[in-house]
Order: sequence, then structure tokens, then C-alpha cells
Amino acid sequence: MGVKEDIERLKKEKKAVILAHNYQPPAIQDLADIVGDSLELAIKAKEATEDLIVLCGVQFMAETAKILNPGKKVILPVKDAGCPLADQLTPDMIKEARKNHPGAAVVVYVNSSAECKAEADVACTSANAAGVVRSLEETEVIFGPDSNLASWVQEQVPEKEIIPVPPDGHCPVHAVFEIGDTEEAKRLDYCIVCHPECEKSIRDKSDFVASTGGMMKIASEAGRWAVLTEKDMTYRLSKEYPEKEFLAYEKSVCKDMKKITPEILRNSLETEDYEIILDEEEMNRARGAIERMIAIRS
Ligand code: 13P
Ligand code: SF4
Repeated sequence: MGVKEDIERLKKEKKAVILAHNYQPPAIQDLADIVGDSLELAIKAKEATEDLIVLCGVQFMAETAKILNPGKKVILPVKDAGCPLADQLTPDMIKEARKNHPGAAVVVYVNSSAECKAEADVACTSANAAGVVRSLEETEVIFGPDSNLASWVQEQVPEKEIIPVPPDGHCPVHAVFEIGDTEEAKRLDYCIVCHPECEKSIRDKSDFVASTGGMMKIASEAGRWAVLTEKDMTYRLSKEYPEKEFLAYEKSVCKDMKKITPEILRNSLETEDYEIILDEEEMNRARGAIERMIAIRS
């Protein structure tokens, strides 16, 4: 039997569902039951009725799934699939910022640890960040860890004062883009979409700024796209819109997202590794911030 058949059999035996992020390798996207952005995966995990949730993504995504559906076993097939952006925020930084800005609300990007979410008032993803911030009563908003997303939100919600914590938090995968990329894409007549984790200079030269889920929704608006985000986003886009052209940037690779292979996925279904185990009290506090985010969306 092949790996694909093994996975199908194990999924039935274990009553499992496989959720995969839009940046997962094509082979994993093809094996998943659901492929989506951070917000879509969080909502699917919350609604999952299966016994076992296999999260093909990175640590914070699997933690979010566990926090939202604590009665289920949640596994991340690779133990050390982290997020270098999430690592840039600590609970102490949030506590310090609260001390310095006592009247401010704390919004954490979902790309953060469960410990940080437990210190926050509300979470957000790139799909709903502006809406979450706009909905707050407070004028001052502590926002971390992505300073580029923070500045993008600031542009859309000028009535708030956003305080990025840390001041220079960024995703290395989105920091690779240069003005030369947008100039070249324009010269070749591509419509440009970039992720809000890109620097302001790149966002300003793009036709659209969107989360990975947002990119799926707006793709119908043009025929040829330069996609300034992680390279495998274009696999998902090309599958959904085979008649369109999507330019991928091979230099934009999230190494942590590439750690899962079909063989590793099969083994993880077999052994049920690596289970996400979080402190009960911390989980309950973090759930408040994520549930509040989901409620704002609806
Ligand atoms: P999305 O929420 O847009 O899928 O982004 C997740 C992410 O990690 C971007 O780098
Ligand atoms: Fe983290 Fe960047 Fe990878 Fe997204 S692309 S998971 S923000 S390192």
C-alpha cells in the first residue's frame, strides 16, 4: 500500500481530520481535508467533531486548535515546526507594555505563543486584524508581534494609536521582498498582491494587500498575479484558478512549514505524535482572547 492509502486508512481508523495551512508543501495540501488561512483553520478546528485533529502547519496553529477544542487530541506531525515571528513576543513584553500604557487594549496576532495569548485581551489574524482593532473601545492598542501588520492596521484604523510590541517584530519570510520585485512585476504587467506581513514600501507598491485566505477570494479580479508571500501559496491559487497565472517567489520560503512530508504525516497518524499539551489555566485565559476574536468576525 502507498502512503496516500495508508493515510486514508489511518484517518478512518482514528477518526481523524487533517487541516493544512496554505503554505504547506503541495503534497500535504493534496492530502488534507481542509486547506486554509490561520483564521479558517482555527474555526474548522473549533467545529471539528473528529477525535483527532492533525494540524499540518506550525506550533501556534496547533496550539490554537487545542485551545479552541480542548476535548480533542491535537497533533502537530513535526515537533519543532515553529514560527520565528511568534518567537519575537514574550509574556513579559506584554506585561511591561501594559505597565507603560495602562489604558491600552492588548491585541496579539495569532502568530504568537499560547502564553502570550493568555496575557492578551483579544487575538487577531491578518484576515481580521483591522476589524478587531476597530471594534475596541480603547483608543490605545498594544499590538504584537508583527510591526508590519501593526502599521498596516494603523493605516486602516487611523482613529486608534497602535503601539507595536516589540517595535521591530517581523516575519523573515516576508522580509525578503524588495522594491525591485514590485517594479519588475509591474513592468511585466502583473497585478500585485502582498501579505500584510510585508514592509510598508512593498505594501504601498502593491495593488492589493491580503491574508492568504483573502488572496483566494480576490484572485477572480485579475488574470495574472504576482504573489508576494510564501511561495507555495501559488499552488493553492493555481489549483482553484487553473486558467490564471500566478508568479511565485522561490526566495520566500517558510522552512518550518516545509518540515512535514507525506511519510511524516502517515507516521504521526500512526503514533499520534506530537500531541499538543498546554497548561489548563493558561489555555482557559488564551481561549478568551481567541473566542473574542471569532465573535467580532460574526
Ligand atoms: P494567514 O493568516 O494569512 O494564513 O497568514 C499566516 C502566516 O503565518 C503568514 O505568514
Ligand atoms: Fe511564521 Fe513567517 Fe512562517 Fe508565517 S511565514 S509561519 S509568520 S515564519
